[in-house]
Amino acid sequence: MDLLDAMRTTPATRAFTDDDIPDEVVYEILDAARFAPNGGNRQAWKVVIVRDPAVKEEIARLYDLGAREYSAHAQAGLVPFSAGEAHWRTEPAVDLEAARQTPTTMSSRHIATAPVLVVILLDLDRCSAVDSGLDRLSISAGASVYPFAHNILLAARSRGFGGHFTSVLARQEHALRTLLNIPENVALATMLPLGKPEKELSKLKRAPVEEFTTVGTYDGPAFTK
Ligand SMILES: Cc1cc2nc3c(=O)[nH]c(=O)nc-3n(C[C@H](O)[C@H](O)[C@H](O)COP(=O)(O)O)c2cc1C
Repeated sequence: MDLLDAMRTTPATRAFTDDDIPDEVVYEILDAARFAPNGGNRQAWKVVIVRDPAVKEEIARLYDLGAREYSAHAQAGLVPFSAGEAHWRTEPAVDLEAARQTPTTMSSRHIATAPVLVVILLDLDRCSAVDSGLDRLSISAGASVYPFAHNILLAARSRGFGGHFTSVLARQEHALRTLLNIPENVALATMLPLGKPEKELSKLKRAPVEEFTTVGTYDGPAFTK
């Protein structure tokens, strides 16, 4: 598949067939993904492959708790866990305890049943957050791991498999830490359930270039063809 086509047509896949994704293919995918750019080339990512049904079930349960918190924000008309507020907000914007008791329409079943869960971690002692201390949320450490995670989705697609990022699992990072023996200095970046897509979805909705690109300054004219 042409690289530009792959970039334009790799969706978030949340429904899988019963087909397995063999370990050889998972290895091949990781073997390609590891060439991702990352700060200082320190490659501070770490990956845990989960296939045990009981562990997948527990991760799905933790994911569901995170999804409930996320949905409660969305239902209140808020950007869930808005990054713009993260630096100063000390009290949650919604009642998280109540949210965790309230079922959500965001399904977690495909996480329990996906053939493999790829848990992507970042060793915080080995990567830089060069935008720290700027009186806003630091975001740059994530740049040392998310290109790697996206490469996994692209490589999976090239082999007929799919998956999606799962940031809401981060809400239960402490429980995941215990479940998978993750050390304190290592953070959950994301988790990708991978499997054979039930349907081939490849038409993605995104804003056109002119909507998010300007020339010269932030408020400059739109960059057009
Ligand atoms: C940082 C990040 C976090 C995400 N977290 C979740 C998640 O927790 N659950 C989920 O179902 N999808 C998650 N997604 C997938 C997005 O919902 C998806 O990329 C977006 O809606 C576009 O979907 P599409 O590529 O199918 O058009 C996440 C994506 C990113 C990049």
